[in-house]
Amino acid sequence: MNQQFLLAARPEGMVRESDFNRVSTPLPTIGEGECLIDVHYMGLEPAMRGWMENRADYIAPLAIGDVMRGFGAGSVSVSNNPSYPVGTRVTGSFGWQQHYLHRADAAPLQRIPDGISLRAAIGVFGVTGMTAWFGLERIGKPRKGDVFVVSSAAGATGSVAGQLAKIHGCRVVGITSSAEKCQWLTATLGFDAAVNYREPNWQQQLSEVCPDGIDIYFDNAGGELLNTALGLIRDAARVVLCGGISRYNATGPLDGPTNYFNLIFRRARMEGFIVLDYADQFAAAIDAMQPLVAAGQLRHADTVSQGFDALPGALVALFQGANQGKQLVCISAPDDPD
Ligand SMILES: NC(=O)c1ccc[n+]([C@@H]2O[C@H](COP(=O)([O-])OP(=O)(O)OC[C@H]3O[C@@H](n4cnc5c(N)ncnc54)[C@H](OP(=O)(O)O)[C@@H]3O)[C@@H](O)[C@H]2O)c1
Repeated sequence: MNQQFLLAARPEGMVRESDFNRVSTPLPTIGEGECLIDVHYMGLEPAMRGWMENRADYIAPLAIGDVMRGFGAGSVSVSNNPSYPVGTRVTGSFGWQQHYLHRADAAPLQRIPDGISLRAAIGVFGVTGMTAWFGLERIGKPRKGDVFVVSSAAGATGSVAGQLAKIHGCRVVGITSSAEKCQWLTATLGFDAAVNYREPNWQQQLSEVCPDGIDIYFDNAGGELLNTALGLIRDAARVVLCGGISRYNATGPLDGPTNYFNLIFRRARMEGFIVLDYADQFAAAIDAMQPLVAAGQLRHADTVSQGFDALPGALVALFQGANQGKQLVCISAPDDPD
């Protein structure tokens, strides 16, 4: 049998475990040209909250009753497709299920190169790492000596973006939600400073660690964090609009950033992007990042919840800031050394 989580309800406010329905369905029979993937890890993304809504934006919404969408890593367990022999390690949009049937006419699967773990394949070398890379390189355009500030800094994308900015010679400041995460950013990842936005004077702290202002603000959070950063930008600053997690579960009308006018005074740019637009350049970015990871200059971390049933709770936890690095769920434990 194949265990699956289906979308049971459109979320209202905070996403809830009851928005998903767990079902057990017979394993599909494998036709000509098809193969079956055992899903080992599922990556959790804040964007999942948006996919659950009935709203067309950059990707089609899910219908009630659909298998929940999700990118994962797995291995081929049964194959009628010579391109994917049994044992091939792959990533793809497998959905929240234990087994994924890859049909003959489906888009090709992404093979995981030797030397890359399944977890890294959906973390630093997956959409997460690509988002950090292209947001920084294409929009942030870092220069040595720039002051680089990132929100959700201890999360999957933020932790990679901050380290890449450091490699470019920037002074790197992270914003996150706890003293423990701040300590991890500075002591383990080499950030120059970190600020806990749950402390009442965090805005004052941010201006103190950026006394001359901010050249690049990489925004994952939106809301008050974005507004505060806009108030501190320097001339010709670049504001990278990567995400805005503070608004994903919000209900009712949302405030815009009142400090946006500083973009005019500071002759600055604020620009959004969707990482999938760079898909044809992912391979080159991975090639550039692999030596950095191998040399220990770019560390990747993850928070792994265990077992298929952990999926809905792990998504809720992501919105509570429980993760450090990429939030993953281990669905079936493979041998996956780093
Ligand atoms: N543009 C693109 O193509 C693209 C692609 C992928 C991801 N993204 C965006 O990138 C951002 C980061 O994604 P990720 O996958 O790397 O997730 P992540 O940062 O690993 O996890 C989410 C983090 O958001 C923070 N958070 C949760 N609720 C919050 C709230 N109400 N206010 C402020 N912060 C909150 C928490 O960190 P703290 O402990 O620091 O609060 C949490 O750990 C998201 O906004 C996502 O939508 C964009």
